Parts: sequence; structure tokens; C-alpha cells
Amino acid sequence: MAGNWKMYKTPAETSAFFEKFRPLVAGTNHCEVVICPPFVDLAAAVESARGTMIEIGGQNLFWGQEGAYTGEVSGQMLRAAGCRWALVAHSERRQYFGETNENAAKRILGALEVGLTPVYCVGEMLDDRQSGKTEQVLETQFQGGLARLTAEQFDKLVVAYEPVWAIGTGKVATPEIAADAHRFIRDQVRKLFGPGAAAACRILYGGSVKPDNIRGLMAQPEIDGALVGGASLDPVSFASIVNF
Ligand code: 13P
Repeated sequence: MAGNWKMYKTPAETSAFFEKFRPLVAGTNHCEVVICPPFVDLAAAVESARGTMIEIGGQNLFWGQEGAYTGEVSGQMLRAAGCRWALVAHSERRQYFGETNENAAKRILGALEVGLTPVYCVGEMLDDRQSGKTEQVLETQFQGGLARLTAEQFDKLVVAYEPVWAIGTGKVATPEIAADAHRFIRDQVRKLFGPGAAAACRILYGGSVKPDNIRGLMAQPEIDGALVGGASLDPVSFASIVNF
């Protein structure tokens, strides 16, 4: 269960979140819990999560490990800051910052190189779905982002299916729609990396996940977890998603 805070919270607000969140998940051991705050909050988050099972991730990373790349943050830096995870190619990065499948592939390698678990985000826009292109889009994103990986590398990666029309809109995909997409993605995994990888691969659903719809989504065997935006900003609501 992963929370993506997007561009919300200061370091002080981060510490305050953890004060409330930590006791609410103190007994949780049925799943991994990951929070991805903005870069400037990482130190506060790592400090607050110390000694708990909560792990911290970056929302993005650059593919190189250091160099003259003003404004960028590398996997090596995320690791040194205490991160274990990194989101790659979130739809907002694709939409507003021109990220592509090709540079997602490089970011994924940059993350794996330093032992971060990349969460590779894929998902179709509303137009794609309405014009019957969902599978074509998912296949292109999947092949473009992942085709250069070995099965051994893929084994260390998590996929997130986030239909863009469901993000921040309150319009969650029905469990059936989400499960269909997850099944399609798992077929792609099978084609590229074989049946063992397809069975083991974890695919998270993201897009308007809330405490009141998590149970229905997680009832689908195809859905292995959630990537939660808005509802992860509130400690009570994120804890109730984690502990549904
Ligand atoms: P919301 O849960 O706010 O719809 O955001 C989903 C998301 O983009 C998580 O990465």
C-alpha cells in the first residue's frame, strides 16, 4: 500500500502526519507500507519512520547518479537519504513534464542500479479508453519502459496501473475494469519475462482509492495493492486503507 503525496506537505506537516499515522499502523504486518513525499520532506519522513515498518520513496528520480543536471535528484541520492522506493513515470510526470516511455526505461535502470524498487506507472487517458485504445496504450507503455530489462531485473520492480481519468477525479475504476487492465498487464509480463514473472509480479491500482472503495478493489485477485494520492495525505484515511 503506497501513498503518493504529490506536491503536498512541508517538513513540519510531514512530521505531524507521522505522529498520527505511526500508532495507527503499529500492528500492521500483512502488507508493505510506503510513503512517497516531496523531496524536501524525505529527511523528515525517514526520521519519523525509523524503527517502524513504513518505508519511504521518492516520487521521481533522474537516470544518472550525479552530474551537471540542475534541478534533478538521483537514485543514489534517494538511497543515501534513506529511500527504498521510487515512483517512475507517474502520469503527471508524463502529462506535464514530457516524460516518455524511453526515459522511464532509463530511470528504472537508474533506480535498480542502486537497489531502489521502482514503481513503474502506466495508464490510459480518457480519450484512449473511449476510443478503444486502452490495451494498445498499456502495451506501448509497458514495452517502451520495460523491454530493456532482464527477467532478473524485472523481478525487483512493481507496476502501478493508474487510469488517468480516475486520478484525482473521484471516479474510481470499477473493480472489474481495474482487474481487466491488470490481467492485460500481467499478460504483457508473461510475454516479456515468462510465466514465473507474471505470477510473481505485483500490480498496484491507483486512481481515487479511498477507505470506502479499497475493499472492493482488493477483492479482485488481480489487484495486489494500491497507489493512493489524495487519501494518503490524511493519516486516518490512509491507515484505514492500509488496514482495510
Ligand atoms: P488520487 O488517489 O488522488 O486519485 O491519485 C492517484 C495517484 O495518482 C497516485 O499516484
